[in-house]
Amino acid sequence: MGCPACGCADVRAAYHEAQGGLEVLRVGELPDPEPGPGDVLIRVRATSMDRVDVYWREGSHGMRLRWPQHVGGRDIAGVVEAVGEQVEAVAAGDRVVASGERTHATLALAPADLTFPLPDGISFEAGGATPTAGRSAHQALIEKAQIQSGEIVLVMAAGSGVGSFGVQIARALGCRVITTAGTAEKRSKAVELGADLAIDHYNDDIVTAVRDATDGRGVDVVLDHVGTPVFAAAVRSLAPEGRFVTCGVTAGHLGELHLGQLFVKGVTLMGVGRPDNQRIAATMRGLLAMIGRGQVTPVIAAAFPLEEIAEAHRLMESSRFFGKIVLTP
Ligand SMILES: NC(=O)c1ccc[n+]([C@@H]2O[C@H](COP(=O)([O-])OP(=O)(O)OC[C@H]3O[C@@H](n4cnc5c(N)ncnc54)[C@H](OP(=O)(O)O)[C@@H]3O)[C@@H](O)[C@H]2O)c1
Repeated sequence: MGCPACGCADVRAAYHEAQGGLEVLRVGELPDPEPGPGDVLIRVRATSMDRVDVYWREGSHGMRLRWPQHVGGRDIAGVVEAVGEQVEAVAAGDRVVASGERTHATLALAPADLTFPLPDGISFEAGGATPTAGRSAHQALIEKAQIQSGEIVLVMAAGSGVGSFGVQIARALGCRVITTAGTAEKRSKAVELGADLAIDHYNDDIVTAVRDATDGRGVDVVLDHVGTPVFAAAVRSLAPEGRFVTCGVTAGHLGELHLGQLFVKGVTLMGVGRPDNQRIAATMRGLLAMIGRGQVTPVIAAAFPLEEIAEAHRLMESSRFFGKIVLTP
């Protein structure tokens, strides 16, 4: 059966009906997504893997299947196929980038208020790598921590999707950037991306390295998404009045905090939260403008066709990549 809005063919998607290892992943035909009045139906040219897709597939971090046939992904770059009756801002044929759901598929839906023109000269792969990781880094650094030119920012794990955007955003705002990564190759890529210093987060003492690099003062802002293994060091790396902002807990959600450090240093702890669509849209417009101006370039680690979804999950689990893993349905 074709899509009732546009008569297109069935959607082909990567999905899983159970949680577990890579063997639960399937690729096949699923019922068409049907746009509601405020939705945009997009032919997906590129989407990406987020760490949460692995959590959903393996059942970790408290993730339960959202649908009987769970399709991962939230990022979309593609061409508008059809729009709901209330949508006026975009039309069939437009090249767009969007935040939707069930995007590891040939067709996906996004709300019109989270669908934006793909900047001129930006590839579908770059667009598809951007929304979730890029807006989290942008929101954490610009909206929450309100980084200022001349400040020193510590971005944890530069090789991650969030970190690869975070390093570039902080640099573009005129900050000095210190980052971390688990391999020499990643640390060298982080410096190429704009970091002034890359610390080995497994073998170096992060606090000592930060103090050595900042004349003992510490950093103004930490962007974290790793969690437990780096939390104490992140807080101790802050300068007086420093700001810590988190958008994820890849390696554990519990952290030990010496409250004395908060009141003595006047430190602020923040999380990105769950902004409404209006705020996400404002963030996305700011980020896409930076990408359009060439201040931020999404880093594509690898691109896989939909049929190789298991390879994409395997690569993400291995952490042997720098930037974003893209799918090209
Ligand atoms: N709040 C939101 O809306 C939002 C949006 C996007 C992402 N997130 C969350 O943010 C986190 C990052 O997402 P992502 O997609 O950018 O992840 P990712 O690309 O998979 O990267 C994960 C990173 O974690 C680092 N890491 C893992 N274990 C570590 C440890 N023990 N010590 C230090 N670093 C460690 C790895 O660094 P090395 O390989 O260099 O060791 C890797 O670069 C995830 O938890 C995700 O769920 C949240």
